[in-house]
Amino acid sequence: MKNEQWILSKRPVGVPNLETDLTLKQMETRDLNFGEILIESQYLSLDPYMRGRMNAGQSYATPVEIGAVMEGEVIGKIIESKSKLYKKGDFINTRLGWQKYGIVDEKSQINKINLPSELPITYSLGVLGMPGRTAYLGFTEVCKPKPGETIVISAASGAVGSIVGQIAKLMGCRVIGIVGSDSKVKYCKETLNFDICLNYRKQDIDKELGKIGENFVDMYFDNVGGEVSDAVMNHISLYSRTAICGQIAIYNSSSIPTGPRVARTLLTKQSTMQGFIVFNYEHKYPEAMNALIRWIQSGEIVYREDIHKGFNRIPENFMKLFEGHNFGKLIMDLR
Ligand SMILES: NC(=O)c1ccc[n+]([C@@H]2O[C@H](COP(=O)([O-])OP(=O)(O)OC[C@H]3O[C@@H](n4cnc5c(N)ncnc54)[C@H](OP(=O)(O)O)[C@@H]3O)[C@@H](O)[C@H]2O)c1
Repeated sequence: MKNEQWILSKRPVGVPNLETDLTLKQMETRDLNFGEILIESQYLSLDPYMRGRMNAGQSYATPVEIGAVMEGEVIGKIIESKSKLYKKGDFINTRLGWQKYGIVDEKSQINKINLPSELPITYSLGVLGMPGRTAYLGFTEVCKPKPGETIVISAASGAVGSIVGQIAKLMGCRVIGIVGSDSKVKYCKETLNFDICLNYRKQDIDKELGKIGENFVDMYFDNVGGEVSDAVMNHISLYSRTAICGQIAIYNSSSIPTGPRVARTLLTKQSTMQGFIVFNYEHKYPEAMNALIRWIQSGEIVYREDIHKGFNRIPENFMKLFEGHNFGKLIMDLR
Protein backbone atom coordinates (compact mmCIF):
# COMPACT_ATOMS: atom_id res chain seq x y z
CA MET A 1 0.00 0.00 0.00
CA LYS A 2 1.36 3.46 -0.92
CA ASN A 3 1.69 5.41 2.32
CA GLU A 4 2.33 9.10 3.04
CA GLN A 5 3.57 10.54 6.32
CA TRP A 6 4.27 13.97 7.79
CA ILE A 7 7.68 13.74 9.44
CA LEU A 8 9.18 16.11 12.02
CA SER A 9 12.37 17.06 10.17
CA LYS A 10 13.58 19.87 12.47
CA ARG A 11 12.61 21.15 15.92
CA PRO A 12 10.84 24.50 15.50
CA VAL A 13 12.25 27.59 17.14
CA GLY A 14 9.22 29.71 17.98
CA VAL A 15 6.42 29.49 15.41
CA PRO A 16 6.90 26.31 13.29
CA ASN A 17 8.33 26.93 9.84
CA LEU A 18 6.24 24.71 7.59
CA GLU A 19 8.91 24.73 4.84
CA THR A 20 11.72 23.33 7.02
CA ASP A 21 10.27 21.72 10.15
CA LEU A 22 7.85 19.23 8.57
CA THR A 23 8.46 17.03 5.52
CA LEU A 24 6.11 14.88 3.48
CA LYS A 25 7.47 11.37 2.98
CA GLN A 26 6.21 8.56 0.76
CA MET A 27 6.81 4.83 1.15
CA GLU A 28 5.21 1.40 0.76
CA THR A 29 3.62 -0.23 3.81
CA ARG A 30 5.26 -3.50 4.85
CA ASP A 31 3.59 -6.90 5.31
CA LEU A 32 1.82 -7.61 8.60
CA ASN A 33 3.27 -9.81 11.32
CA PHE A 34 1.09 -11.99 13.50
CA GLY A 35 -0.93 -9.83 15.98
CA GLU A 36 -0.73 -6.67 13.84
CA ILE A 37 -3.40 -4.67 12.00
CA LEU A 38 -3.19 -2.31 9.03
CA ILE A 39 -5.18 0.86 9.53
CA GLU A 40 -6.37 3.45 7.05
CA SER A 41 -6.72 6.94 8.61
CA GLN A 42 -10.19 8.33 8.14
CA TYR A 43 -9.99 11.40 10.38
CA LEU A 44 -7.05 12.99 12.20
CA SER A 45 -7.50 15.13 15.29
CA LEU A 46 -5.36 18.29 15.35
CA ASP A 47 -4.67 19.49 18.90
CA PRO A 48 -2.56 22.19 20.57
CA TYR A 49 -0.49 19.64 22.56
CA MET A 50 1.17 18.55 19.28
CA ARG A 51 3.24 21.74 19.34
CA GLY A 52 4.77 20.60 22.64
CA ARG A 53 5.69 17.22 21.13
CA MET A 54 7.82 19.04 18.53
CA ASN A 55 10.14 20.34 21.29
CA ALA A 56 13.00 18.42 22.85
CA GLY A 57 13.13 18.17 26.60
CA GLN A 58 11.21 16.99 29.58
CA SER A 59 7.40 17.21 29.62
CA TYR A 60 4.56 14.93 30.69
CA ALA A 61 5.01 13.03 27.38
CA THR A 62 8.07 12.13 25.32
CA PRO A 63 8.79 14.34 22.30
CA VAL A 64 8.47 13.16 18.70
CA GLU A 65 11.93 12.15 17.48
CA ILE A 66 13.48 13.95 14.53
CA GLY A 67 12.64 11.86 11.46
CA ALA A 68 9.58 10.31 13.12
CA VAL A 69 5.92 10.66 12.15
CA MET A 70 4.09 13.54 13.88
CA GLU A 71 1.95 12.23 16.69
CA GLY A 72 -1.84 12.31 16.79
CA GLU A 73 -5.05 10.41 17.38
CA VAL A 74 -7.06 9.16 14.41
CA ILE A 75 -10.29 7.45 13.61
CA GLY A 76 -9.05 4.53 11.56
CA LYS A 77 -10.59 1.76 9.53
CA ILE A 78 -8.95 -1.66 9.72
CA ILE A 79 -8.23 -2.79 6.19
CA GLU A 80 -6.19 -5.89 7.01
CA SER A 81 -5.87 -7.88 10.23
CA LYS A 82 -3.58 -10.58 11.53
CA SER A 83 -5.08 -10.16 15.01
CA LYS A 84 -7.74 -12.25 16.70
CA LEU A 85 -8.97 -9.13 18.56
CA TYR A 86 -9.72 -6.89 15.58
CA LYS A 87 -11.29 -7.64 12.23
CA LYS A 88 -11.25 -6.00 8.83
CA GLY A 89 -13.84 -3.21 8.65
CA ASP A 90 -13.71 -2.25 12.37
CA PHE A 91 -13.51 1.47 13.15
CA ILE A 92 -11.12 2.35 15.95
CA ASN A 93 -9.44 5.26 17.74
CA THR A 94 -5.68 4.96 18.01
CA ARG A 95 -2.57 7.13 17.99
CA LEU A 96 -1.49 6.50 14.40
CA GLY A 97 -0.09 10.00 13.83
CA TRP A 98 -0.05 12.14 10.73
CA GLN A 99 -0.05 9.35 8.15
CA LYS A 100 -2.46 7.76 5.68
CA TYR A 101 -1.80 4.16 6.71
CA GLY A 102 -0.18 2.61 9.72
CA ILE A 103 0.52 -0.77 11.26
CA VAL A 104 -0.10 -1.23 14.96
CA ASP A 105 0.26 -4.18 17.28
CA GLU A 106 -2.96 -5.44 18.85
CA LYS A 107 -1.44 -4.72 22.29
CA SER A 108 -1.18 -0.96 21.52
CA GLN A 109 -3.76 1.45 22.84
CA ILE A 110 -6.70 0.84 20.50
CA ASN A 111 -10.34 1.65 21.27
CA LYS A 112 -13.18 0.27 19.19
CA ILE A 113 -15.58 3.14 18.48
CA ASN A 114 -18.79 2.49 20.29
CA LEU A 115 -20.90 5.66 20.12
CA PRO A 116 -24.70 5.80 19.95
CA SER A 117 -25.45 5.37 16.24
CA GLU A 118 -27.07 8.80 15.78
CA LEU A 119 -23.90 10.63 16.84
CA PRO A 120 -21.16 11.53 14.34
CA ILE A 121 -18.13 9.23 14.56
CA THR A 122 -15.89 12.34 14.70
CA TYR A 123 -17.24 13.12 18.19
CA SER A 124 -14.87 10.37 19.39
CA LEU A 125 -12.02 12.84 18.73
CA GLY A 126 -13.80 15.75 20.40
CA VAL A 127 -16.64 16.07 22.83
CA LEU A 128 -16.74 12.28 23.37
CA GLY A 129 -12.98 11.96 23.30
CA MET A 130 -9.96 13.55 24.91
CA PRO A 131 -11.13 17.21 24.75
CA GLY A 132 -14.58 16.40 26.20
CA ARG A 133 -13.08 14.37 29.04
CA THR A 134 -10.62 17.21 29.71
CA ALA A 135 -13.48 19.69 29.97
CA TYR A 136 -15.61 17.53 32.25
CA LEU A 137 -12.83 16.36 34.56
CA GLY A 138 -10.87 19.62 34.69
CA PHE A 139 -14.03 21.47 35.60
CA THR A 140 -15.53 19.04 38.11
CA GLU A 141 -12.30 17.78 39.73
CA VAL A 142 -10.14 20.92 39.73
CA CYS A 143 -12.58 23.85 39.71
CA LYS A 144 -14.96 22.05 42.08
CA PRO A 145 -17.99 24.17 41.12
CA LYS A 146 -20.87 25.23 43.33
CA PRO A 147 -24.17 26.58 41.94
CA GLY A 148 -24.24 30.37 41.79
CA GLU A 149 -20.48 30.72 41.37
CA THR A 150 -18.84 32.59 38.50
CA ILE A 151 -16.39 30.98 36.10
CA VAL A 152 -14.18 32.66 33.53
CA ILE A 153 -13.04 30.48 30.60
CA SER A 154 -10.36 31.41 28.06
CA ALA A 155 -10.49 29.99 24.49
CA ALA A 156 -14.15 29.68 25.41
CA SER A 157 -15.52 28.74 22.00
CA GLY A 158 -12.99 25.94 21.44
CA ALA A 159 -13.09 22.17 21.71
CA VAL A 160 -12.49 22.17 25.49
CA GLY A 161 -13.72 25.65 26.50
CA SER A 162 -17.14 25.36 24.84
CA ILE A 163 -17.87 22.18 26.82
CA VAL A 164 -16.62 23.59 30.14
CA GLY A 165 -18.94 26.57 29.74
CA GLN A 166 -21.99 24.49 28.88
CA ILE A 167 -21.41 22.10 31.80
CA ALA A 168 -20.97 25.11 34.09
CA LYS A 169 -24.34 26.49 32.94
CA LEU A 170 -25.96 23.10 33.55
CA MET A 171 -24.52 23.17 37.07
CA GLY A 172 -26.02 26.60 37.80
CA CYS A 173 -22.90 28.76 37.41
CA ARG A 174 -22.51 32.17 35.77
CA VAL A 175 -20.23 31.83 32.73
CA ILE A 176 -17.93 34.50 31.29
CA GLY A 177 -16.09 33.50 28.13
CA ILE A 178 -13.02 35.11 26.59
CA VAL A 179 -12.42 34.60 22.85
CA GLY A 180 -10.58 36.17 19.92
CA SER A 181 -13.29 37.25 17.43
CA ASP A 182 -16.75 38.80 17.26
CA SER A 183 -18.20 35.70 15.58
CA LYS A 184 -16.94 33.59 18.49
CA VAL A 185 -18.46 36.10 20.96
CA LYS A 186 -21.80 35.78 19.16
CA TYR A 187 -21.60 31.96 19.20
CA CYS A 188 -20.79 31.83 22.93
CA LYS A 189 -23.65 34.16 23.81
CA GLU A 190 -26.35 33.06 21.38
CA THR A 191 -25.67 29.35 20.86
CA LEU A 192 -23.90 28.32 24.06
CA ASN A 193 -25.91 30.73 26.26
CA PHE A 194 -22.90 32.05 28.16
CA ASP A 195 -23.85 35.05 30.30
CA ILE A 196 -21.03 37.31 29.09
CA CYS A 197 -18.36 36.95 26.42
CA LEU A 198 -15.38 39.25 25.81
CA ASN A 199 -13.08 39.61 22.79
CA TYR A 200 -9.46 39.92 23.96
CA ARG A 201 -8.33 41.21 20.56
CA LYS A 202 -10.66 44.22 20.82
CA GLN A 203 -11.29 44.73 24.52
CA ASP A 204 -9.09 45.39 27.54
CA ILE A 205 -9.90 42.26 29.57
CA ASP A 206 -8.68 43.70 32.87
CA LYS A 207 -10.87 46.79 32.44
CA GLU A 208 -13.92 44.85 31.24
CA LEU A 209 -13.76 42.37 34.13
CA GLY A 210 -13.35 45.33 36.50
CA LYS A 211 -16.68 46.70 35.23
CA ILE A 212 -18.44 43.41 36.08
CA GLY A 213 -17.46 43.39 39.77
CA GLU A 214 -14.73 43.23 42.35
CA ASN A 215 -12.93 39.97 43.20
CA PHE A 216 -15.77 37.97 41.71
CA VAL A 217 -14.07 35.19 39.68
CA ASP A 218 -14.62 32.02 41.74
CA MET A 219 -13.16 29.72 39.08
CA TYR A 220 -10.85 30.33 36.15
CA PHE A 221 -10.52 27.58 33.51
CA ASP A 222 -7.32 28.63 31.79
CA ASN A 223 -6.77 27.35 28.27
CA VAL A 224 -4.38 30.05 27.09
CA GLY A 225 -2.09 31.64 29.71
CA GLY A 226 -0.20 34.78 28.70
CA GLU A 227 -1.68 38.26 28.98
CA VAL A 228 -5.31 37.10 29.05
CA SER A 229 -4.62 35.07 32.19
CA ASP A 230 -2.60 37.87 33.80
CA ALA A 231 -5.72 40.05 33.44
CA VAL A 232 -8.13 37.41 34.84
CA MET A 233 -5.98 36.82 37.93
CA ASN A 234 -6.55 40.42 38.99
CA HIS A 235 -10.21 39.56 39.58
CA ILE A 236 -10.20 36.23 41.43
CA SER A 237 -12.29 35.87 44.55
CA LEU A 238 -11.35 34.68 48.02
CA TYR A 239 -10.92 30.87 47.89
CA SER A 240 -11.02 30.83 44.08
CA ARG A 241 -9.84 27.82 42.06
CA THR A 242 -7.86 28.15 38.84
CA ALA A 243 -7.50 25.08 36.61
CA ILE A 244 -4.46 25.34 34.34
CA CYS A 245 -5.62 23.30 31.37
CA GLY A 246 -3.47 24.81 28.62
CA GLN A 247 -1.12 27.68 27.83
CA ILE A 248 -1.50 27.97 24.06
CA ALA A 249 -0.49 31.66 24.07
CA ILE A 250 3.07 30.61 24.93
CA TYR A 251 3.43 27.24 23.15
CA ASN A 252 5.34 28.98 20.33
CA SER A 253 7.58 31.01 22.67
CA SER A 254 11.18 29.87 22.67
CA SER A 255 11.58 31.29 26.19
CA ILE A 256 8.73 31.84 28.62
CA PRO A 257 8.19 35.56 29.07
CA THR A 258 8.32 36.95 32.60
CA GLY A 259 4.92 38.17 33.72
CA PRO A 260 3.15 39.51 36.78
CA ARG A 261 3.72 37.27 39.80
CA VAL A 262 0.51 35.55 40.85
CA ALA A 263 1.84 34.06 44.10
CA ARG A 264 0.89 37.07 46.23
CA THR A 265 -2.62 37.15 44.74
CA LEU A 266 -3.04 33.44 45.50
CA LEU A 267 -1.81 34.06 49.04
CA THR A 268 -4.03 37.02 49.86
CA LYS A 269 -7.08 35.45 48.18
CA GLN A 270 -6.30 32.06 49.77
CA SER A 271 -6.80 30.60 46.30
CA THR A 272 -5.52 27.58 44.47
CA MET A 273 -4.07 27.16 41.01
CA GLN A 274 -3.66 23.60 39.79
CA GLY A 275 -2.29 22.25 36.58
CA PHE A 276 -3.85 19.01 35.38
CA ILE A 277 -3.39 16.47 32.61
CA VAL A 278 -6.51 14.58 31.62
CA PHE A 279 -4.71 11.19 31.47
CA ASN A 280 -4.32 11.19 35.26
CA TYR A 281 -8.10 10.94 35.65
CA GLU A 282 -8.53 7.75 33.63
CA HIS A 283 -10.49 6.12 36.45
CA LYS A 284 -13.16 8.80 35.91
CA TYR A 285 -13.49 8.48 32.11
CA PRO A 286 -16.69 6.36 32.28
CA GLU A 287 -18.37 8.99 34.48
CA ALA A 288 -17.34 11.75 32.06
CA MET A 289 -18.46 9.82 28.98
CA ASN A 290 -21.84 8.87 30.43
CA ALA A 291 -22.59 12.46 31.42
CA LEU A 292 -21.45 13.91 28.08
CA ILE A 293 -23.40 11.37 26.00
CA ARG A 294 -26.54 12.07 28.06
CA TRP A 295 -26.22 15.85 27.64
CA ILE A 296 -25.56 15.59 23.90
CA GLN A 297 -28.49 13.26 23.33
CA SER A 298 -30.81 15.56 25.27
CA GLY A 299 -29.53 18.61 23.36
CA GLU A 300 -28.27 20.27 26.55
CA ILE A 301 -24.78 20.37 25.10
CA VAL A 302 -24.09 21.38 21.52
CA TYR A 303 -20.80 20.87 19.76
CA ARG A 304 -19.10 22.52 16.85
CA GLU A 305 -16.55 20.85 14.59
CA ASP A 306 -14.18 22.45 12.11
CA ILE A 307 -13.35 19.75 9.56
CA HIS A 308 -10.97 20.17 6.60
CA LYS A 309 -9.97 17.90 3.75
CA GLY A 310 -6.54 17.21 2.28
CA PHE A 311 -3.62 15.19 3.67
CA ASN A 312 -1.18 17.72 2.15
CA ARG A 313 -2.85 20.51 4.06
CA ILE A 314 -2.44 19.08 7.59
CA PRO A 315 0.42 21.44 8.64
CA GLU A 316 -1.28 24.64 7.49
CA ASN A 317 -4.51 23.60 9.21
CA PHE A 318 -2.59 22.75 12.41
CA MET A 319 -1.29 26.33 12.52
CA LYS A 320 -4.88 27.64 12.68
CA LEU A 321 -4.98 26.60 16.35
CA PHE A 322 -2.33 29.21 17.19
CA GLU A 323 -3.88 31.94 15.07
CA GLY A 324 -7.41 31.46 16.37
CA HIS A 325 -8.51 30.52 12.83
CA ASN A 326 -10.15 27.27 13.92
CA PHE A 327 -13.73 27.62 15.10
CA GLY A 328 -14.60 24.40 16.94
CA LYS A 329 -12.82 21.04 17.18
CA LEU A 330 -10.19 20.96 14.45
CA ILE A 331 -10.20 17.70 12.48
CA MET A 332 -8.75 16.59 9.13
CA ASP A 333 -10.95 14.42 6.93
CA LEU A 334 -8.49 12.08 5.19
CA ARG A 335 -10.99 9.81 3.39
N1 LIG B 1 -4.50 19.55 30.37
C1 LIG B 1 -4.96 18.68 29.49
O1 LIG B 1 -5.05 17.47 29.75
C2 LIG B 1 -5.43 19.19 28.17
C3 LIG B 1 -6.18 18.38 27.29
C4 LIG B 1 -6.68 18.94 26.09
C5 LIG B 1 -6.39 20.26 25.77
N2 LIG B 1 -5.62 21.00 26.63
C6 LIG B 1 -5.33 22.43 26.34
O2 LIG B 1 -6.57 23.11 26.28
C7 LIG B 1 -6.43 24.27 25.45
C8 LIG B 1 -7.58 24.31 24.45
O3 LIG B 1 -7.45 23.21 23.57
P1 LIG B 1 -8.56 22.93 22.45
O4 LIG B 1 -8.25 21.62 21.85
O5 LIG B 1 -9.91 23.17 23.04
O6 LIG B 1 -8.24 24.05 21.37
P2 LIG B 1 -9.27 25.14 20.77
O7 LIG B 1 -9.70 26.03 21.89
O8 LIG B 1 -10.29 24.48 19.95
O9 LIG B 1 -8.29 25.94 19.80
C9 LIG B 1 -7.27 26.74 20.29
C10 LIG B 1 -7.76 28.19 20.49
O10 LIG B 1 -6.87 28.86 21.38
C11 LIG B 1 -7.01 30.25 21.17
N3 LIG B 1 -5.68 30.89 21.12
C12 LIG B 1 -4.66 30.57 20.29
N4 LIG B 1 -3.61 31.37 20.51
C13 LIG B 1 -3.98 32.22 21.51
C14 LIG B 1 -3.33 33.30 22.20
N5 LIG B 1 -2.08 33.66 21.87
N6 LIG B 1 -4.01 33.95 23.18
C15 LIG B 1 -5.28 33.59 23.50
N7 LIG B 1 -5.96 32.59 22.88
C16 LIG B 1 -5.30 31.92 21.90
C17 LIG B 1 -7.73 30.44 19.83
O11 LIG B 1 -9.07 30.85 20.09
P3 LIG B 1 -9.48 32.42 20.07
O12 LIG B 1 -9.81 32.75 18.64
O13 LIG B 1 -10.63 32.50 20.97
O14 LIG B 1 -8.27 33.17 20.52
C18 LIG B 1 -7.73 29.04 19.24
O15 LIG B 1 -8.85 28.83 18.40
C19 LIG B 1 -5.05 24.20 24.82
O16 LIG B 1 -4.16 25.04 25.52
C20 LIG B 1 -4.67 22.73 25.01
O17 LIG B 1 -3.26 22.55 25.06
C21 LIG B 1 -5.14 20.49 27.79
